[in-house]
Amino acid sequence: MEANPFVHHRAVANPMVLQRDEWKIRRGDAADYEGTRHLWETVHGVPRSPDSMHWLYEANPAGPCQLWVAEEMGTGRIVATRPVFPWRVRVGHREVLVAQAGDAMTHPEFRRRGVFTSLVQVVWSELRDQGVPFSFSFSNAGALSVYRKTAVGQGSRAGTHEVLWFRRLVYPLSWRLILGRTPAIGGLITGLDLPRRVFPRRRLTLPKHLSVFRVDRFDREFDDLWIRTAQQYGVLTVRDSRYLNWRFMDPPTGAFQVLGLRTQGELVGYIAFEVDAQGNGWIADLFGLPNPEIVAALLRASLGAMLEMGCATASILVATDNPFVRVIRDVGFFQRADRFPMAVHVYRDGVDAETALDARRWWAWYGDRDVERLAKHP
Ligand SMILES: CC(C)(COP(=O)(O)OP(=O)(O)OC[C@H]1O[C@@H](n2cnc3c(N)ncnc32)[C@H](O)[C@@H]1OP(=O)(O)O)[C@@H](O)C(=O)NCCC(=O)NCCS
Repeated sequence: MEANPFVHHRAVANPMVLQRDEWKIRRGDAADYEGTRHLWETVHGVPRSPDSMHWLYEANPAGPCQLWVAEEMGTGRIVATRPVFPWRVRVGHREVLVAQAGDAMTHPEFRRRGVFTSLVQVVWSELRDQGVPFSFSFSNAGALSVYRKTAVGQGSRAGTHEVLWFRRLVYPLSWRLILGRTPAIGGLITGLDLPRRVFPRRRLTLPKHLSVFRVDRFDREFDDLWIRTAQQYGVLTVRDSRYLNWRFMDPPTGAFQVLGLRTQGELVGYIAFEVDAQGNGWIADLFGLPNPEIVAALLRASLGAMLEMGCATASILVATDNPFVRVIRDVGFFQRADRFPMAVHVYRDGVDAETALDARRWWAWYGDRDVERLAKHP
């Protein structure tokens, strides 16, 4: 991997970077996590555990987050944050350390005063100066609107580009359970559900040369799969065992379900999913030999497992440019109306940026997001 000063950011001489009458922007560090966590709870209205913060801000094997905060003058209260999380990405034929921008927030009392705009300006400039070619984010409309106005960097590609559009595709596993959520209809449908339950089991049977196994921990076999397979992709998160264990096994809210697929004893892919509190399955990640039979088999294996677990539906958020959209639909998923962007923020034009702006070269799933659980999406 190329040398990159990104991870050495903590040795900064002057952490204060911008001052206004009511607030100032400065570098944050681990001492600000408590304030950041409280701000998160105020902004999102739900609790967030210190473990959850630690997992994302510190335990990421690509390195600790770089944090910038806006602090209220006088009180020292944190009123806005802009963390960026280091992310190892393979771009073309090499590994590059970029960043995923997440957890952006401004306290409701400080909104629409340009605090977030200033934070983004500061952070984007810093990333540019560190030599980071681009960052990416799964952003909502409010954040994207600010990003679009804040181009920092050199070259015609500098700025924010909505590169991927994710659509949700759903596979109904049990009409009885789906319609049971509307009790009056649920009672009527029980008998009708029987063919649906028998039918998918048959449709989900895998060819004999493929075998599925449960993965409790990613190990060298997965590193080997990554080494053998990565060059067949354009731009994607480095899926080695270190990353995969952190991302899918070690979240404080619990491990994802992971299934591996072998043919003649050799690992050819894996699929990771979670089941939400309502009994819906969410496919988070899928990787292996980029071949329709493997992709379909991984999907079928996960659907079979979700059926066993009593799930009502299975969902997958798929980038519209993913080369296997057709395969996913042929397995039986159908498209819902929602659409969510993944944006790339270019700071340094060049071959990395060119590759990262080509939607057809990305292999990204919703599990690439910097959130523990997928069931809630922007
Ligand atoms: C998105 C969010 C971080 C924006 O924070 P903010 O500090 O209000 O952002 P800014 O004030 O810099 O910009 C917001 C808008 O106010 C405008 N603005 C900036 N300075 C202003 C000022 N002095 N007076 C009036 N409006 C101003 C900006 O141009 C921008 O307009 P737009 O929405 O048309 O693009 C904030 O709304 C938030 O915390 N939302 C909830 C959490 C969230 O959704 N985070 C993003 C997750 S992806």
